[in-house]
Amino acid sequence: MVTDTPITKEKPFKICFVCLGNICRSPTAEGIFQHLVNESGLQSYFYIDSAGTSAYHIGEPANSKSQKIANQHGVQLKSKARRFNPSDLEEFDLILAMDHENFDNLQKMDVKGTYSGKIYLMREFDPKPGTKAVPDPYYGGMDGFQEVYDILYRSCKNLLEKLKERIDK
Ligand code: 4NP
Repeated sequence: MVTDTPITKEKPFKICFVCLGNICRSPTAEGIFQHLVNESGLQSYFYIDSAGTSAYHIGEPANSKSQKIANQHGVQLKSKARRFNPSDLEEFDLILAMDHENFDNLQKMDVKGTYSGKIYLMREFDPKPGTKAVPDPYYGGMDGFQEVYDILYRSCKNLLEKLKERIDK
């Protein structure tokens, strides 16, 4: 994945989770991944962030339904929405799009394809086979937010297990 260079404390691995608004899916992924990293005591090895491809909700905290479900699982969502910048393509080691539209928008920003090896769909890391998009829960009820949480939890857990193999302590 991306490169197989070791992850060290000197060069923490930088991950950016990306959705449309940066208030539902990507802040949830960021919060879950940070929670799992903290549980494993690996905070020094990772820098975790999230962003949106749109400017609709810049500066807003995570959606209240996303926060409610995350909190029920002991996960805090601390992000404030920001827009993904083209410079983030250089900055991050791994950029994870929640759905195909987010993925296409990231690829359009990467005009020359320089960073294509860093951009993946989040559900490439979902251990459960099925559709490759994390569904947009914004206009739906709590069930949709719970489904998003479940998808992101198992995908983040699987991703961290893979990345742990690269940590050089
Ligand atoms: P997110 O959800 O991309 O998971 O943060 C959405 C948030 C806002 C909108 C759409 C999706 N919106 O259209 O404002």
